[in-house]
Amino acid sequence: MIPMPDRSLRHARVPGDKSITHRALLAAALTGGLSRIREPLVAGDTNATRRVLTALGVPIETLPAGELQVVGRGLRGLIAPEAPLDCGNSGTTARLLLGILAAQPLVASLTGDDSLRSRPMRRVTRPLREMGARIRELGDADRLPVEITGGELRPLRFEDATASAQVKSAVLLAGLCGGQPVTVTEPLRSRDHTERLLRGLGVPLSERSGAAGHEIRLEPVGQIPPFDVTVPGDFSAAAFLVAAALLLGTPLRIHGVGVNPTRTGLLDVLARMGAPVAVLEPRQQGAEPVADLLVSAGELRGTTVVGTEIPALVDEVPVLAVLAARAEGETTITGAGELRVKESDRISMLVANLRAIGVVAEELPDGLVVQGTRNSLRGAVATAGDHRIAMAFGVLGALPGCELRIDDRAAAAVSFPGFWQELRRLETGP
Ligand code: S3P
Repeated sequence: MIPMPDRSLRHARVPGDKSITHRALLAAALTGGLSRIREPLVAGDTNATRRVLTALGVPIETLPAGELQVVGRGLRGLIAPEAPLDCGNSGTTARLLLGILAAQPLVASLTGDDSLRSRPMRRVTRPLREMGARIRELGDADRLPVEITGGELRPLRFEDATASAQVKSAVLLAGLCGGQPVTVTEPLRSRDHTERLLRGLGVPLSERSGAAGHEIRLEPVGQIPPFDVTVPGDFSAAAFLVAAALLLGTPLRIHGVGVNPTRTGLLDVLARMGAPVAVLEPRQQGAEPVADLLVSAGELRGTTVVGTEIPALVDEVPVLAVLAARAEGETTITGAGELRVKESDRISMLVANLRAIGVVAEELPDGLVVQGTRNSLRGAVATAGDHRIAMAFGVLGALPGCELRIDDRAAAAVSFPGFWQELRRLETGP
């Protein structure tokens, strides 16, 4: 007798938001007192931020309930590290920290793992140099390792060519720590967690949208107060469970997920693909909106995703590509050139892996085209250590009849420790 698949409603939670945990740790370090971060993400990337802050003289303790307690050193009170600051795999750590270090009267060098050392850094070092920071590239041009000498800064009006929350945040943090007004214009709105957090701490921030893009202006303050924050569940982690639930046909409610509109572009695309996800019990948690996500079974059809949509789903392209592989018809994603400089070249990794397991896919200079199929998928997946590539193909590998060998499953721990267990729970029952 073949057991019937269990299709009863499942419940899940996801770890704390990665972007918000990084920012909470960094901002807490800049306050003049004791802050508490509840339900933080504890994973490879945020451990990197904790490690570098500790090396800069910031005591961080894990309390019994798992919250982090941070003793701030003030806006310009970090101390010179004794060794190079290792940011691991985390671009957010490296770039936001450079913004903070630009205003500290000290010398520090920053490095990271092979992936991080292959990612562009001038996008952030250029505006910071304009503000007055001295930055020396110690290896290849535009790459880590770099040495930064911080100090007195100048105001800056900066027009960014790409929509990057990391670059925007680095400039805002440099203005905050350096006591200088800064204005950043981004061509499209990127995630606004830094703005929400700083505004909540009393930092004057104004925003306006115009023909040139979205402009954010920060006015300096003398200090920021310590705070107590609860981190929402990470939408980008939830996206993998949403995809798994959809493809397995298992109804799923994910509790307490951040639904900041600068992050939830995937929901619009899923609605277009014929599989709307319901956003239940929306509520405010500090500066961020939170809700439960309810996924019901649905047949997916292909769609087209264009460049203006990318910033709000930039980390969801891998999971979208695997959903496209199971949708009816063709899916085209364009305007996503930024994906080439993520933890891996995600465009080429996605296309190569999809092809390796039997999906028809084509690489575009700034995106990809995927033909959906119902065939069993089999083969080897190379992740290049990229957590989101590992998890995206993990979802496909969980489908009945699909057998994928993923070379580095452990990479998921960069942002979602427990991912494989959660996925298994969805496959096998409550
Ligand atoms: C992040 C911003 C995005 C995103 C990354 C996290 C952040 O990068 O892809 O995973 O926390 O600011 P970019 O700023 O390079 O777009």
